[in-house]
Amino acid sequence: GLPARVRIHEVGARDGLQNEQRAVPTPVKAEFVRRLAEAGLTTIEATSFVHPKWVPQLADAEQLFPQLAGLGNIDLPVLVPNQRGLERALALGARRIAVFASATESFAKANLNRGLDESLAVFEPVVRQAKDAGVHVRGYVSMCFGDPWEGAVPLRQVARVCTALRDMGCDELSLGDTIGVATPGHVRELLALLNEEGVPTHEIGVHFHDTYGQALANTLAALQHGVTTVDASAGGLGGCPYAKSATGNLATEDLVWMLHGLGIETGVDLGRLTATSVWMAEQLGRPSPSRTVRALSHK
Ligand code: HMG
Ligand code: MG
Repeated sequence: GLPARVRIHEVGARDGLQNEQRAVPTPVKAEFVRRLAEAGLTTIEATSFVHPKWVPQLADAEQLFPQLAGLGNIDLPVLVPNQRGLERALALGARRIAVFASATESFAKANLNRGLDESLAVFEPVVRQAKDAGVHVRGYVSMCFGDPWEGAVPLRQVARVCTALRDMGCDELSLGDTIGVATPGHVRELLALLNEEGVPTHEIGVHFHDTYGQALANTLAALQHGVTTVDASAGGLGGCPYAKSATGNLATEDLVWMLHGLGIETGVDLGRLTATSVWMAEQLGRPSPSRTVRALSHK
């Protein structure tokens, strides 16, 4: 059966905006997050405390994050790649962080400038320190379903990284299809293997990019397996600057359209969310790639 309710982990302000050619002004980002919250999203990934030279689009994290205080009972997770990132996030009072590992050696090097095991070794004390501070920790695993340099990624390799993050103390995992090549059968196989390896489904979120148009089908496969946390990006913004061939995330509007059609609760007001993505598209100077945004805004 399908879950009665899904928690949407909104990544537009982070995964979406990290990939924009031009930096978006900080007040526009703050307004974007505020509108997402007003549309009913309750987990809104706000920004990343990464090296400003690596991701200049998010170099304003110190300015942005304090502007998001006072949004009410909203979780605002932030990405941290290392100790320095954790210090920056904790200094501003972040209560949720995400570390981001890779299932492949190539992407660990491209994205973190470290090998796979070396990057896990960097995360270990970061996760421990965050947990000691009472901070919730998400562990992303990128390239779970395919890698632009290495091609197919063995399921066992993904499971090894997931287990390592869990053993460190991550509260939840997010399985990243960074380049959007997954198909539903592949999703089912990975989830089944993770369960066999002792990872419970309730600790697993899914993070699909929509490069091959499979993101919704993959999401449905995950829901049928019992997954209740789904990452999506308002308007379908997104991609990773350090991954060849990464395009936008699953659009939150497309996700909400499907979930509400299935009678699954999200707490999201689709009209307000669509209006937010139309507004954001005006700021960015190009239309949203989301089919649902297009359909609802051309009525
Ligand atoms: P590095 O160059 O190896 O850094 O980069 P380092 O550790 O050698 O340090 C060099 C200098 O950078 C030092 O300064 C550090 O203090 C400073 P110096 O002593 O020379 O003056 N530094 C920092 N400054 C500010 N904030 C920091 C920080 N860390 C070091 N956090 C590093 C290594 C990890 C920092 C770099 O590779 C990096 O920032 N990478 C981030 C890449 C990124 O953000 N990618 C996108 C997010 S992942 C994603 O999109 C995938 C996901 O959506 C899931 C999916 O789709 O699969 C999550
Ligand atoms: Mg992503």
